[in-house]
Amino acid sequence: MAIIEFFRQMSYPIYYAVLTTALLLLTFWIARRFAMRKMKRVVMKAEHSYQQQIASLQMQLSGKVSMLENMVEKLKLSNQELNRLNEIRSKFMSIVAHDLRQPLTSIQGFTSVLMMDSPQGGGNNDQVALNNILKATDNMNQLMADLMDISMIESGKFKMDFKNFNFNQLLNDVYTLQQVNAQKKGIFLTKYEYPNDVIVFADRFRISQVLNNLLGNAIKFSPQGGRIEVRYFLQDGWLICYVDDDGPGIAYNEQSKIFQKFHQSENDRSSRKQGWGLGLSIAQEIVNAHNGEIGVESAGLGQGSLFWFRIPVDPAAYKA
Ligand SMILES: Nc1ncnc2c1ncn2[C@@H]1O[C@H](COP(=O)(O)OP(=O)(O)OP(=O)(O)O)[C@@H](O)[C@H]1O
Ligand SMILES: [Mg+2]
Repeated sequence: MAIIEFFRQMSYPIYYAVLTTALLLLTFWIARRFAMRKMKRVVMKAEHSYQQQIASLQMQLSGKVSMLENMVEKLKLSNQELNRLNEIRSKFMSIVAHDLRQPLTSIQGFTSVLMMDSPQGGGNNDQVALNNILKATDNMNQLMADLMDISMIESGKFKMDFKNFNFNQLLNDVYTLQQVNAQKKGIFLTKYEYPNDVIVFADRFRISQVLNNLLGNAIKFSPQGGRIEVRYFLQDGWLICYVDDDGPGIAYNEQSKIFQKFHQSENDRSSRKQGWGLGLSIAQEIVNAHNGEIGVESAGLGQGSLFWFRIPVDPAAYKA
């Protein structure tokens, strides 16, 4: 009643204004409801179509996933097969290398006996021939030993025998052996003495193999009259050894490749016959097994080569 009284007392313009505002608000409310309903329908439609798209994508994806799983399975199988074949190849290599060494040793023994029996003298054809046989069997023996090392490396059986030894003495032994080869070729091989005895914890035989290969290479690849220096020193717990020659050098793009198995530089075909390109790859494995490093520096062809390796002196460095 109070509201009706309130409207009655209103003047017409105010009355119309209030009515119009109320009608406007009502229209706005109805329009909003319609719009909301329409929007809701559009959103639901879009949601439905997205869901359909997602479902079809999921189907495609699961198809691709199962295809990938198949491929992974096939790859696993071929990988297993490759490993098996690799093992057979490695075993075969080591059997061949091992079995060929025995007859080779016999050939060497008989050849030495024949050499002693045949008349001595510079121009004796028998002596020359027997000497050639001995040299050839020596080379084959070296190849067999290298192949056995490679097969051990590949099968993970290349183990080091760590012991304390005097590095000065080892270098002396290797130097004395290689000095004979250097002199035969008219090459000047110099060893720089280290003032004190150095005791290292390493595999003596394997480290001598590294040194023999580095010095052997320097002698093999240097021309007559060449100069080779070998020296070592201690620095921050490392024993660092250098073999420096003024021989043919190594082109920059060859410097990392020469540490790969069977890689021999293209630039030196004459000395290729005297080896198999295995020495440096084995040397690298040996140095790595000592937690060390090996490398070469050469300013290029005709500039000589500086081979170096370093191994830790401290036994604690070997504890993983
Ligand atoms: N001092 C050097 N001067 C120039 N080239 C070198 C020298 N040392 C190594 N090389 C190059 O590196 C290659 C690989 O050396 P590595 O010792 O592995 O094999 P190799 O001496 O040819 O044969 P192997 O050591 O099996 O008897 C050599 O063939 C040669 O091309
Ligand atoms: Mg070599």
